Amino acid sequence: MLLRKKPKAPVEVPAGLVDLHCHILAGVDDGAHDDEQMVDLIRLEYSCGVRYLCFTPHFNPALFTPKPDKIAESFAKARAYVSENLPDMKLFLGNEVFMRPDTIERLRDKSCKPLGDSRVVLTEFHPTTSYDDMRMYVVKLLSAGKVPLVAHIERYDKLIDIDDIYELKSLGAKLQINTEAFSSPKRKLISKLVEQGAIDVVADDRHSRERGEPNLRECFSYVSEKFGDKAAYALFIHRPMNILNMV
Ligand SMILES: [Fe+2]
Repeated sequence: MLLRKKPKAPVEVPAGLVDLHCHILAGVDDGAHDDEQMVDLIRLEYSCGVRYLCFTPHFNPALFTPKPDKIAESFAKARAYVSENLPDMKLFLGNEVFMRPDTIERLRDKSCKPLGDSRVVLTEFHPTTSYDDMRMYVVKLLSAGKVPLVAHIERYDKLIDIDDIYELKSLGAKLQINTEAFSSPKRKLISKLVEQGAIDVVADDRHSRERGEPNLRECFSYVSEKFGDKAAYALFIHRPMNILNMV
């Protein structure tokens, strides 16, 4: 007799996911262009189960003119919309901070900021930054009392040696991957790191409806099926929540 494989029950994605990396605030970088798009993307996050959402506009003065007034205005609009329409969602503000020689000074003078009220800085490097420079910036941030959360680690050409990645962790850095990392050229390395519990956060780095796919709900299901429920809860809820609480 042939044994039929029992079909797997679909993964239940809980409401309560945390998203620490997105470009949804209107009119401040290469993310949402206007309020309508911002609201659409907030609703998309909500429909994925996200209840703790941190906006992280780019802080990279070489590419985007910093717009503190516009950031404050868009954040106030987002808050007003959420408090009226999605009251169980909580919003936070931070930056995705591109590392340059003057970055520590810009954090000190509050030109850019960590995630929410935490001391964790979403830290971005140029895709071709050398490993030695990454380590140097990680040490600089830690010496300044900040905790680097290295953004989308799958993107850096020179971050390919697993020992280097573990060295960043042992220094005190946290590691973030994008949802697309599981289909990137580095997917094997990323899967190994997830299996070993070395990744702290998955985020979709959402810029638009299209840019940021797969969404967090789909990625939660994938991680849960491939690595287990415990890993999915750690990467999408518990570890990112602990990061927001690192004050
Ligand atoms: Fe980003």
